[in-house]
Amino acid sequence: MKTTKLEKYRPALHFSPKRNWMNDPNGLVYFKGEYHLFFQHNPNDSIWGPMHWGHAVSKDLIKWEELEIALSPDEHGTIFSGSAIVDWNNTSGFFPNEPGLVAIFTHHLEDETHNPPEQSQSLAYSYDKGRTWIKYDGNPVLTHPTKVDFRDPKVFWHEESSKWVMVLATEQTISIYSSPNLTDWQFESEFGEGIGSHDGVWECPDLFELTVEHSNRKKWVLIVSIGDNPRFDSGSRTQYFVGSFDGKNFVAEHDDVKWLDYGKDNYAGVSFSNVPKEDGRRIYLGWMSNWRYANQVPTDGWRSQMTLPRELKLRETHGNFEIVQKVVSELDKYFTNKTEIKGVTIGTNGTDNFEVDAEYAEIELIFENNNAIQYGITIHHTEAQYTTICINSIDNALTLERKHSGKVDFSDNFFRPQMLKLNESKRIQLRVIIDSSSVELFINEGAKALTSLVYPDKACEGISLFASEGKVKVVHGKISIPSII
Ligand code: FRU
Repeated sequence: MKTTKLEKYRPALHFSPKRNWMNDPNGLVYFKGEYHLFFQHNPNDSIWGPMHWGHAVSKDLIKWEELEIALSPDEHGTIFSGSAIVDWNNTSGFFPNEPGLVAIFTHHLEDETHNPPEQSQSLAYSYDKGRTWIKYDGNPVLTHPTKVDFRDPKVFWHEESSKWVMVLATEQTISIYSSPNLTDWQFESEFGEGIGSHDGVWECPDLFELTVEHSNRKKWVLIVSIGDNPRFDSGSRTQYFVGSFDGKNFVAEHDDVKWLDYGKDNYAGVSFSNVPKEDGRRIYLGWMSNWRYANQVPTDGWRSQMTLPRELKLRETHGNFEIVQKVVSELDKYFTNKTEIKGVTIGTNGTDNFEVDAEYAEIELIFENNNAIQYGITIHHTEAQYTTICINSIDNALTLERKHSGKVDFSDNFFRPQMLKLNESKRIQLRVIIDSSSVELFINEGAKALTSLVYPDKACEGISLFASEGKVKVVHGKISIPSII
């Protein structure tokens, strides 16, 4: 939440560190009434540097309280990304009295004698709900003789084989290991050669079962982030695979590349572990930035923020399964309705400005296109600064344009448009969440997401709608602003 009104760009709804640098979410876990968000953190500077795990907790996934640093570098190296689990049955032997948290993370060792760097997997455990941690004295628990990129362990309990499973990023593949006790790991298989996008190094995998919407069917999903490659405009981004998993091998059931987000600013996202069965949600959040310009974004004294937490499901369309994402419903209470827009037809003059004037806002709209070539929404951050969401009905494309959104000149990549293809553009449902320095867009009930940073002087003064060379109808529309909570 905002700490002072004066702090420019500080988000109201998204988690950001009080001070200094943050990247990937780590150790996402629910335990004893709290969601834990650990994060890649450099506590000494607002650019990337020696990594620690920062820590925040939340009861509702929206309002976070930042706590003391959880893990600091040691003789095995700095602390790279990883996960956390609850060891309910004391498989590790760390918890003779009461179940507790175990963090599984990468140690990154880089100095004169370790060049190229060495990456290995290590453990730490906590008896006090993640407030303090004890590093396991047998660290590291998993090393590799040759692989330099060997990192980002995500661990979960696999019921059917009664074992812990770890997915690990290994250069441009994902390696799968298993263990009965978190300390002894056995290699099972390697996935990824010749499939998916290999535009960059593979990082931060996550593997879980997802429910198919409106059914009780499930399929396994493997999420894989892909590092920045200067050869491509997109920078770092995230792909996923849908398929099956038997405790040893993951098999994808498609050849096409599936992107989790069509915006530039959702990277290294993973899901929470230990969400209670009665709740049953698969909740994901990502780092809302891009390695292409993450170190240059124009915030002062702190850098980066997370996406809003999103519930993931699968949607089936003609035998094809894709992830749909919906911001967790805990967000709803942070909004109150301001304006309804119903049965309005928009012609070439567009609409008047709907006043918003709020530190964060939400727009929900259903457009029905008659014959407009282009139509969409203009978010007026201020009078001179705006972001547009434009649907082109000739090529069924949606573009988010942020080149006039405020500060863009810190990178020669940031001003470029972000685009995605739609199946059709006759009827479109949009949900847009605007915070001080971001626009998150969800299309057709979460079928596609586009997450984008912006750096305007104010979050949102107003909204207007436009159409060109024809008419478009707003079947239903609603603008919401902060509720008093
Ligand atoms: C992804 C990543 C991870 C690594 C961490 C280092 O953004 O490169 O692969 O563990 O960041 O901070």
